[in-house]
Amino acid sequence: MRLRNKTAVITGSGRGIGKATALIFAKEGANIVISDVNRNDVERTVAEVSETGAEAAGIKADVTNKNQVIELMDLAVSKYGKIDILINNAGITMDAALLKMKDEQFDTVIDINLRGVYNCGQAAARVMERHKSGVILNASSFSGIYGNYGQTNYVATKSAVIGMTKVWAKELGPKGIRVNAVAPGFIISPMTDKVPDKVLEMMKEKCPLKMLGKPEDIAYAYLYLASDEARFVNGAVLEVTGGLT
Ligand SMILES: NC(=O)c1ccc[n+]([C@@H]2O[C@H](COP(=O)([O-])OP(=O)(O)OC[C@H]3O[C@@H](n4cnc5c(N)ncnc54)[C@H](O)[C@@H]3O)[C@@H](O)[C@H]2O)c1
Repeated sequence: MRLRNKTAVITGSGRGIGKATALIFAKEGANIVISDVNRNDVERTVAEVSETGAEAAGIKADVTNKNQVIELMDLAVSKYGKIDILINNAGITMDAALLKMKDEQFDTVIDINLRGVYNCGQAAARVMERHKSGVILNASSFSGIYGNYGQTNYVATKSAVIGMTKVWAKELGPKGIRVNAVAPGFIISPMTDKVPDKVLEMMKEKCPLKMLGKPEDIAYAYLYLASDEARFVNGAVLEVTGGLT
């Protein structure tokens, strides 16, 4: 098992990529701390992870709320004594072309996808610093590197996450904490439910592998980066897009 005795905190893990990551990490021996804004999804994921025989705890926590973020990290420490891995996975889209975008759409996405990553990264790093080890993995996106129509707000956050990843790699590396980002391509998840079939078909055609990704495809990238196999990988952005880009 590649994550035996490690404790992983995964934000937005009530469904989608976060949940798939929780289940795969559990099979690799990690203790999992599930968190999401949706309490029912938290409870369901905790139950599913526990069924694998792994240790799991859960809490409703909004990444934009500093107190709730601290409660989340405190839960991990009180239950398992440490945080080895943080996956900054929580994120949303509120797409609109620039000329139609409302300030509220811009602010909400910035708050969750950018400030949320800052809040959780800072709170977890304060715990990891005490143990002089840890791994922080941030969810970026192919669109954060290459841009995407209708995503001024989302792309701004996903590019910024890459910037923060590189800063943290430099600041936290000397403290034994590695920081990397994953940039997924098009992944079928509840986030992409609202994407019209026509666009999904187009994305599939554009991908050299002629397929869309599954949440597990991203979870396995996180698994590699979280494991000791990636001990020399720091400040990297791993694109998992099927070659789309
Ligand atoms: N699906 C894709 O094609 C794709 C592509 C590139 C990047 N990503 C990124 O991967 C991550 C996961 O995406 P997904 O496809 O699983 O999406 P998803 O919508 O299925 O899951 C996101 C989860 O985050 C939670 N969440 C939303 N706001 C939150 C908040 N304020 N605090 C805590 N949790 C919150 C949601 O409740 C949900 O459970 C996101 O950061 C997303 O931007 C996804």
